[in-house]
Amino acid sequence: MTDEQLLQMANDIRERAYAPYSGFKVGAALLCADGTVFTGVNIESETYTPSICAERTAFFKAISEGYSDFVKIAVTCDKPFCSPCGVCRQVMVEHAPDLEILLGNPQGTFKRMSIKELLPESFSLND
Ligand code: THU
Repeated sequence: MTDEQLLQMANDIRERAYAPYSGFKVGAALLCADGTVFTGVNIESETYTPSICAERTAFFKAISEGYSDFVKIAVTCDKPFCSPCGVCRQVMVEHAPDLEILLGNPQGTFKRMSIKELLPESFSLND
């Protein structure tokens, strides 16, 4: 699975986002160590609070299917880059402390980051 293929999966699934309130559709594709990919989209709620981001949808799908070894996540939106929110970063660092993050768009450009860069000095009960 190349970076470009993972980004393409995020771009493809983005169409399924349910974002009638923000109008901002996000897609994610989470690569597991065995090569399995779980996709996710943001799903909003009329009452706002229950809304979930694309990244956490992908993580929660994977975790609920028994996966725990994550390598990389691609996140795409209709801006040059969509930086994951703080809540998603907290979930990422707990389940994938060495996660690579590709932030991209339908035009195909992307930047590479790591969860350690996005959430340094994170809280952990193990510290
Ligand atoms: N959103 C994501 O799905 N991922 C991000 O990284 C940032 C924001 C969603 C949440 C909400 O549905 C919409 O984008 C606007 O904030």
